[in-house]
Amino acid sequence: MKIRAERAGDQQAVHRLTEDAFGQPDEARLIGMLRADGDVALSLVAEEGGVLLGHVLFSPMAAPVRVLGLAPLSVAPHCQKQGIGALLVRKGLELARDTGWQAVFVLGDPGYYARFGFTSKAAEGFENPFAGPHFMALELHQGALSTPFAVGYAPAFARL
Ligand SMILES: CC(C)(COP(=O)(O)OP(=O)(O)OC[C@H]1O[C@@H](n2cnc3c(N)ncnc32)[C@H](O)[C@@H]1OP(=O)(O)O)[C@@H](O)C(=O)NCCC(=O)NCCS
Repeated sequence: MKIRAERAGDQQAVHRLTEDAFGQPDEARLIGMLRADGDVALSLVAEEGGVLLGHVLFSPMAAPVRVLGLAPLSVAPHCQKQGIGALLVRKGLELARDTGWQAVFVLGDPGYYARFGFTSKAAEGFENPFAGPHFMALELHQGALSTPFAVGYAPAFARL
């Protein structure tokens, strides 16, 4: 299993696997819109024997410091629960940290994202339409989230 940056020829396979993972077209459409808007900070794929089995995307968020939104994250249905999602998230977080991003927000199941250090507590007080128990954050650099601010997903999210 190799985690690598998405390449130009991957787009169709990423679209398909995202649709398959979610069982609906919205998230794949979101990826297309983020690409068209130039709002892709990191896009990683999991590849095994030339076949793409997973994908994760991080987009820049509107905020006073450099923060990313993690979404969507997809693993092909027949390959779930084998750690592929975790590999993608961990590699993405590592690359984000290494390239100076200060924190990452995610909207998802705390039961899944807690394993990477995301907590809803870290996102408390940050103004966002999705604020609530499923809205979580993770500091990549200590102190980055010590003072709450308004944080907005890339415009494509509102067009879904
Ligand atoms: C969520 C998803 C990306 C996880 O990828 P994965 O490769 O199956 O996950 P991993 O193998 O890294 O981790 C598996 C663990 O996550 C748990 N898990 C998987 N999906 C979960 C969910 N939606 N909520 C809570 N826990 C979940 C599994 O029960 C398993 O738990 P365990 O480690 O305690 O046994 C994958 O299931 C998927 O593509 N789902 C459909 C799309 C989706 O919901 N994406 C996330 C949107 S926020």
